[in-house]
Amino acid sequence: MTRFVSTRGGIDPVGFEEAVLQGFAADGGLFVPEEIPRLGREDLERLAELDFPALACELVSLYLEPGIVPPEDLKRLIDDSFGAFMHEDVVDLVRIRDQPDVRVLELFHGPTLSFKDMAMGVLMNVVDYFLEKRKEHLNIVLATTGDTGPAAAWAAAGKRQIDCWPLYPRGMISVEQERQMTTLDADNVHPVGVENCADGGDDLDIVVAELFTDAELKRALGLSSVNSINWCRVMVQAVHYFYAYFRTVERIGDPVVFSVPSGAFGNLFGGFLARSMGLPVERFLCANNTNNALHTAFSTGVFPRRDLVQTPSSAIDIVAPYNFWRFLYYAANRDSSRIRRWMDDFASHREATLDAETLAFIQAGFLSASVSDKTTMDTIRSTYESGDGYLLDPHTAVAVAAVDAVADRLPADARIVCLGTAHPAKFPEVIRKALGCGEALPQAARHPSIDDARSACQHLRLCDLDSLKSNLVDAMTRQRSRRGR
Ligand SMILES: Cc1ncc(COP(=O)(O)O)c(C=O)c1O
Repeated sequence: MTRFVSTRGGIDPVGFEEAVLQGFAADGGLFVPEEIPRLGREDLERLAELDFPALACELVSLYLEPGIVPPEDLKRLIDDSFGAFMHEDVVDLVRIRDQPDVRVLELFHGPTLSFKDMAMGVLMNVVDYFLEKRKEHLNIVLATTGDTGPAAAWAAAGKRQIDCWPLYPRGMISVEQERQMTTLDADNVHPVGVENCADGGDDLDIVVAELFTDAELKRALGLSSVNSINWCRVMVQAVHYFYAYFRTVERIGDPVVFSVPSGAFGNLFGGFLARSMGLPVERFLCANNTNNALHTAFSTGVFPRRDLVQTPSSAIDIVAPYNFWRFLYYAANRDSSRIRRWMDDFASHREATLDAETLAFIQAGFLSASVSDKTTMDTIRSTYESGDGYLLDPHTAVAVAAVDAVADRLPADARIVCLGTAHPAKFPEVIRKALGCGEALPQAARHPSIDDARSACQHLRLCDLDSLKSNLVDAMTRQRSRRGR
């Protein structure tokens, strides 16, 4: 039976339901399974035949205690989540270059057009299922750099057991991303635009973490989070690596490299999890923009906390990639004492220095690159102007540009899959600038849902960073008493 422990080693093991409902572990660490289930070649060959929802069901069920979610309920929750997608296969795999073979795994066919929809629907459905059984209610609070917020808002809309509070750094996400949240008509969803966030979403992560470390407040307000600290998110984010691998290779075992535009490291952790479960991925490429703490850590062993730089790939403008701790837990051989030391050094000295053994583990499985704004823009334009005129969003462009940056270190026979994490329609200003096309956006940069949100009425709730915590606590308290809790 899978049990979950904390990366900081300070809690007794809990089951899946507790790990998912709590979000953060009580000692400030992240939940990880005691054992990662391992699949053999025969399992992989059987899984390769499944469609996306069926594959997700099989993989998720490996982490559930028997009986906690009966198979027919799990199937319903997962089918319902992916039923909201606009592509019949859930995701698409589009070849954009032949030599080397480079494909984009389009993960943006969900309701809010980013890869965050891949796991958010499943997570909200699972949380709602557990709450319904317990007759409990949760206030779900989350910080967003632009895509998690809309995905959470849409997945939570109308759920009776949940109030959802997406916090976004005002002016640091695209107008389209903001409108996806603020035009949604659901009385249990309360997006808050936060002014004066010098460090963007990272400033909001700190407020969320403060709320969660206050045990009394957490209990009184029924707080939980669905950021990719939540185990259910990273677990479901492993599924698309399996699916893409099976559809890219001729035989299980053929080499595939995944290039992943990385911010908080949640998506890439999903890939690491897939490989730890037995998927024979050759290498991962961690693609950073100029907020490149991960690239620095992967190439030098020093994990720095630097000031935020605003870039065209704003959703990966992150200075403290919190899922990296989860990965380091495994890279450091599950040694919680090292995680505690590195977390403390990172917080107090703005830098953690990894040991040689951990760095060697990382470098054996990962490449990394840091992509400048100019290269991101040039990659959008050159890809659009070549071949079939494929339009990359700025985040997927970072993944594609990273492939060029490490071209001489990629195995010659590997197929390369770049994770397409957002639809370009979410970033029309960047696309205009990259293509130099003025107001005349190409059709590929349009989407009906974005056009609809442009003319809909917005419900704006704004707050200054300094007063965010007290305002949130007041608003949640009022909301709970309105709901009679
Ligand atoms: C479009 C897009 N690409 C990439 C990422 C990075 O994902 P992660 O934070 O899991 O590394 C994000 C996350 O915010 C995103 O919204």
